[in-house]
Amino acid sequence: MSSYNRSVSFKQRAASSPRFSRKTWVSNLFCALIVVGSIVSFFFVIGCGYLYVLPNLTHSFHDREDRFSNFSVSDDTCDVFDGNWVLDDSYPLYNASECPFVEQGFNCLDNGRTDNDYIKWRWKPKNCVIPRVNVQRVLEMLRNKRVVFVGDSMSRTQWESLICLLMTGLEDKSTVYEVNGNKITKQIRFLGVRFSSFNFTIEFYRSVFLVQHYWAPKHGPRRVRSTLKLDKLDDISKEWIDSDVLIFNSGQWWVPGKLFGMGCYFQVGNSLKLGMQITSAFRTAINTWASWVDRKINPKRTRVFFRTFEPSHWRYCAVL
Ligand SMILES: *[C@@H]1O[C@H](CO)[C@@H](O)[C@H](O)[C@H]1NC(C)=O
Ligand SMILES: *[C@@H]1O[C@H](CO)[C@@H](O)[C@H](O)[C@H]1NC(C)=O
Ligand SMILES: *[C@@H]1O[C@H](CO)[C@@H](O)[C@H](O)[C@H]1NC(C)=O
Repeated sequence: MSSYNRSVSFKQRAASSPRFSRKTWVSNLFCALIVVGSIVSFFFVIGCGYLYVLPNLTHSFHDREDRFSNFSVSDDTCDVFDGNWVLDDSYPLYNASECPFVEQGFNCLDNGRTDNDYIKWRWKPKNCVIPRVNVQRVLEMLRNKRVVFVGDSMSRTQWESLICLLMTGLEDKSTVYEVNGNKITKQIRFLGVRFSSFNFTIEFYRSVFLVQHYWAPKHGPRRVRSTLKLDKLDDISKEWIDSDVLIFNSGQWWVPGKLFGMGCYFQVGNSLKLGMQITSAFRTAINTWASWVDRKINPKRTRVFFRTFEPSHWRYCAVL
């Protein structure tokens, strides 16, 4: 597993470089999570959060819609992407200060933010109603299951939110724990939280590009410090297969500053693609991902979601 270790150490190094210094990170996050993290619910993940479900999975997905009485993505009048954020005084759905799985940097109120309307936003599709999350019901639905999130920090904060939301339904919070006793930090590659009284886990795998990140080939140009192998899915992908719900995201890292600026270039097979545009590289990577899903995922067992590109943690914020 040398490639695994090497890519881990690369990512850790990259993440501790000045570009991602703690100070910047914290101040960026201070005004963060405007829209997505604090309001997410499982229904939202299911309903709004996917870009497309592969055709052979769509069927089984639609079979389950009867559970969501007013909510159906197959109904032409209901476009879950077309709607507004509305203020809902019954929100938030959980108190971040009471949830041990919220990263310090994301707990805005605890970090001194004074306004709190932002924790009351609820997504309202134009022509339909997403029922309010029923935590007990979701806990029961997830009994004996394995839910896996894969992606970048946007995915991790959704993962945190879902855990915090579900924990509001439990009397004994000590029955929920990270399986390796790890603290939630941004560099860690795997985090798994187990709800022992319901026998399910909700896991997160950090894989910001979804494809393999590798050291540069030996005789390449000097500026190439690492490559993304666009035709190979991340080497931890085998860990994702045996799950009941599999939720991917990627996007925020496909920008020049996090690629070329860090000496990271694209590779397909054995050839380096120095001139390749990021958009076309992203498309190639997503195709690699899609064919991996086709080959490895059993649609009878696993529901797969791919979440759209979403606002970053710190966009639209005043400079602090
Ligand atoms: C959240 O919990 C903390 C700690 O228990 C408490 O001080 C705070 O008032 C709570 N906030 C809300 C909005 O309920
Ligand atoms: C379903 O929609 C109807 C009419 O819009 C509404 O009265 C009802 O409360 C909704 N049910 C749920 C579960 O949201
Ligand atoms: C817990 O869930 C697993 C499947 O994830 C199942 O194989 C096992 O039997 C369950 N254990 C209990 C005690 O229900």
